[in-house]
Parts: sequence; C-alpha cells; structure tokens
Amino acid sequence: MMDRLRRWSGPVRLLHWVMAALLVALIAVGWVMTHSQYDLGTTFALYQWHKSYGLLVLPLLALRLAARLSPRPPALEHSRIERVGARIAHLAFYLLMLALPVCGWLMASASPLSLPTRPFDLFTMPSLVAPDEALFERLRLLHEILAYALLALLGLHVAAALKHQFFDRDGVIRRITF
Ligand code: HEM
Ligand code: HEM
Repeated sequence: MMDRLRRWSGPVRLLHWVMAALLVALIAVGWVMTHSQYDLGTTFALYQWHKSYGLLVLPLLALRLAARLSPRPPALEHSRIERVGARIAHLAFYLLMLALPVCGWLMASASPLSLPTRPFDLFTMPSLVAPDEALFERLRLLHEILAYALLALLGLHVAAALKHQFFDRDGVIRRITF
C-alpha cells in the first residue's frame, strides 16, 4: 500500500515506457529513411511505418495525460532549482510529443507529392493544408529541429535519472518502473 503511494500509477508507468520505446524508434526510423538509399518500395514502407506510429503518439498522449490525473507520488525533497528544472523538462516533453506528430501531419498534408496518409492502412487522415512546396520545406525543417530537440532532452533526462540513481540514491527510478 505504502509502496503504491510512492509510485506513479500503473497506467502512467506503462505509458511512460511504451511511449519512450516508440519515440526512440520513430527518431531512428525517421533518421534511417531520410539518410539511406533504399529502393523505392522499402523507402515507402519506412515512411508508412513512421507516419502510422508517429500519429499513434497522439492518442497515447491523450491517454497519458488522462492517466496523470490519478493520484501521484509525493514531491521529492529537492532543491528549488532541480524541481523547477524537472518541471520545465517534463513540460517540454509533453509539448514536443504533441508538436512533433502535428507538425508531421501538417508536413505530409503540405507535401507536393500529395500522397494520402493512411495510418495502418485503416483510414485516410484529412489533409490539414493544401499542397505547398515552400510550406512543406519549412515544416520539414521544423519537424527535424523538434525531433532532435526531443533527442537532446532525452539525453538530459537520462543523465538526470542516472544522477538520482547513483549520486542521490533516492530511488526515483523505482517511481516509474515496475
Ligand atoms: C523519449 C523518451 C522519454 C520521455 C518522453 C520521457 C518523459 C518523461 C516525463 C514527461 C516524466 C514525468 C512524469 C510524467 O509526467 O509521466 C518522466 C519521468 C521519469 N522518467 Fe522519463 N521519459 C523518457 C525516457 C526515459 C528513460 C530512457 C529513462 C531512464 C533512464 C527515464 C526515467 C524517468 C524517471 C526515473 C522518471 C520519474 C521522475 C519522477 O518520479 O518524478 N525516462 N519521463
Ligand atoms: C513523435 C512523433 C515523431 C517523431 C519523434 C518523428 C521524428 C522524425 C525524424 C527524426 C525524422 C528525420 C528528420 C531528418 O533527419 O531529416 C523525421 C522525418 C519525417 N517525419 Fe517524423 N516524427 C514523428 C511523427 C511524424 C508524423 C506523425 C508524420 C506524418 C504523418 C511524420 C512525417 C515525417 C516525414 C514525411 C519525414 C521525412 C521528411 C523528409 O523527407 O525530409 N513524422 N521524423
């Protein structure tokens, strides 16, 4: 009972790790599909995978935000600077998890190729904007910047988690693991 109260709820913990794995895979596939020279079929399949799983981030994010309304573990005893830093980093994570798929969806809509976006080949996503080469290029750059900002933030986040584990030894990782 006490243990349960000192941790994030089960759904929050589960979604944290499912989404962490998904986001890392999306960055890896995004990088591979734009930096390697595969045949057209493989490239197309990678783009489809990236778009489908990228859009899946949106409903998962909604579930995660809802799950966060469950009772949360008590605040840790930290210096003010660490508390504020963690707050800002976690908020930035949520903003990036929203902005990245929306930007990707906008980019796919603006693409002069006008290929339909069909998540898991189930249905066609509505186009958010008309095809526009200049807009497409700007969204492409923005998507890239946001994706690598997410990666940088992840580096910082993991470094902070390791600091807790090995320097503070305050068991913070247990709050989010199983
Ligand atoms: C892209 C991948 C990741 C994202 C987006 C992410 C995001 C977050 C967010 C937003 C929180 C705050 C709690 C919440 O609102 O759910 C959190 C907590 C946490 N994350 Fe991650 N995380 C990622 C990967 C990782 C990895 C790889 C580790 C392991 C080293 C990790 C360790 C932790 C720990 C220990 C907490 C608990 C902090 C606390 O209890 O206050 N995260 N993560
Ligand atoms: C959180 C979700 C997402 C992440 C982390 C992510 C990450 C990435 C990364 C790292 C790249 C490679 C950027 C580069 O080096 O040029 C990329 C490219 C791309 N992403 Fe995403 N992405 C996400 C969601 C989406 C979604 C939902 C769509 C569309 C529906 C999308 C469409 C694209 C496209 C079309 C490219 C290739 C752009 C080009 O040809 O240069 N992404 N993404």
